[in-house]
Amino acid sequence: KLKLGVLISGRGSNLQSLMNAAAAPDFPATVALVLSNKADAAGLERARSAGIPALALPHKDYADKPAFEQAMTRALEDAGVQLVCLAGFMRLLSPWFVDHWRDRLINIHPSLLPAFPGIDTHQRALDAGVRFHGCTVHYVRSEVDSGPIVAQAAVPVQSDDTADTLSARVLAAEHELYPLAVRLIAEGRVTVEGDRAVLACPLPIPATAL
Ligand code: GAR
Repeated sequence: KLKLGVLISGRGSNLQSLMNAAAAPDFPATVALVLSNKADAAGLERARSAGIPALALPHKDYADKPAFEQAMTRALEDAGVQLVCLAGFMRLLSPWFVDHWRDRLINIHPSLLPAFPGIDTHQRALDAGVRFHGCTVHYVRSEVDSGPIVAQAAVPVQSDDTADTLSARVLAAEHELYPLAVRLIAEGRVTVEGDRAVLACPLPIPATAL
């Protein structure tokens, strides 16, 4: 099975969805290590209660970003991690880290990229008046929220939505999409060709049905 390292900063609901998926015997990946840059991230406790090694590496304990990222890399490599999954990890990663883990590093982002990179995506989608919002799983490149797209799920925007109601609808889609994307990668069905990720099969679930 493909060994995952999951990087979090907070709640860890996407981490939970990956752990839940990985609990199924036929899931082709396993969560080998959880790292958080915040010692009080609720996701650390979720991992520990599932018996998964979980470490806090507070970025403030390190002299600089290279030292922090080298510590994360060492922990991930010591655990034999083959694919790093960002799941609500709220630190920008340096080109060094991104290149070191090139094509072995994915992220989930709460928008239909390339629309709405960055933060506050739900409010910005409402302000823009888009009829569909959603989430994206993509390989990570140095530019923020960019890189080859593995999978997306579209979610309708309702006329009475607030940022909270919309983000809850998107989050439910995220919890379906991330395990699906990890499965595709772990089964060797995703190839990165330049700026694009090519799937060897159609997405198994119509994304709007998630
Ligand atoms: C998720 O909505 C994730 O897509 C988003 O943070 C939330 C984390 O929730 N990530 C980003 O905004 C990254 N730029 P979680 O901790 O419950 O998984």
